[in-house]
Amino acid sequence: MKSIKELTNLKGKRVILRTDYNVPLDGDRVEDDSRIKKSLPTINLLRKLGAKIIIISHSGRDPKNSLLPMAKVLKHSIPVTFITSVLGAQVDDAIEKMKNGDVIMLENLRSVAGEDKNDPSFARGLSKHGDIYVNEAFPVSHRASASIVGIPKFLPSYAGLQMELEVKELSRALVPEHPFLVIFGGAKAETKIPLIKRYLKDADNVFVGGALVNNFYKAKGLEVGKSVVDNDAKIPKSFLNHKKLILPDMVVVSRSRNVAIKVEDVGPNNQILDVGIPSINRLAPLIHKAKLILWNGPMGWYENDYVEATDELVKLLMKTKAKVIIGGGDTAVFVEKKKLAKHFTFVSSGGGATLEFLSKGTLPGIKALK
Ligand code: 3PG
Repeated sequence: MKSIKELTNLKGKRVILRTDYNVPLDGDRVEDDSRIKKSLPTINLLRKLGAKIIIISHSGRDPKNSLLPMAKVLKHSIPVTFITSVLGAQVDDAIEKMKNGDVIMLENLRSVAGEDKNDPSFARGLSKHGDIYVNEAFPVSHRASASIVGIPKFLPSYAGLQMELEVKELSRALVPEHPFLVIFGGAKAETKIPLIKRYLKDADNVFVGGALVNNFYKAKGLEVGKSVVDNDAKIPKSFLNHKKLILPDMVVVSRSRNVAIKVEDVGPNNQILDVGIPSINRLAPLIHKAKLILWNGPMGWYENDYVEATDELVKLLMKTKAKVIIGGGDTAVFVEKKKLAKHFTFVSSGGGATLEFLSKGTLPGIKALK
């Protein structure tokens, strides 16, 4: 991947900057601006080099979603003009009038069907907005869409600073230092099984919590009652008695909030909602002696305030000397909200992209830059 650090003078050059401003919203209010903040060093560098910057991005999956709330947040840090379309005379005029260092942001790319379909004529149309393309959108680089894999076919293409950092930091888990501990939680067992398989080989221990572990309990023939189970996922038999696999032996269920019970005591009417604190504390010696830790997924139903086990895990992770990589998604939101990100080696801005990078070692958007 060529990095924008290689660029020395962009005076008069139009740079198409693909960002991922697909951020959580409450109505029109941006709830978490970390992805916007993480794109600032790249925008500032491009401005310093004299570029005219055309930001393109997406918001959710509804073509009617607007990027206006994100433009308003960006405006607190950088003067930016929002344009309400993606292609056409309005965009061409605005670009024509730009001076070196100016920034404009176009409307949601997904308002045009050609984006998701990776329509070559849409990609060509977008590429005409610029002289250079920069991908600063790691979280959506697992999607082979027009703005991710299409534009680089037409323009000299570079990785943004955060994109480069994501690849560098997440690559630590591809060629790991040992002892290497992997901690998985959250839901969507189906997406995490390939990664668990990889780390049962490459890591020294794999701990599984969150809703994910319910699939393991069920596969072992244990009662899980009314707990959330991903019925699309099948846990391979080879996982179940694997010596590197650690499953919590204590859980918190609906009838006894904050009081952990043995997994064997879960009844048909119970719902497992969090890992028991004693099971998290049993991880302490492994966390202490690890050189590298990768964590993805909350330990409990955190949206409903079952955060005790995740909080306890965060406390232990903050004390270790190991390099701690937080694998994005809900886990990143959890630590960013609590303003704890600075205590960890790296917090990925991706969700699905992070998991795909960890399992394949690359992404369509990275390949397109090569
Ligand atoms: C994300 O937030 O994970 C990315 O923006 C990708 O979004 P998508 O899953 O809607 O493609």
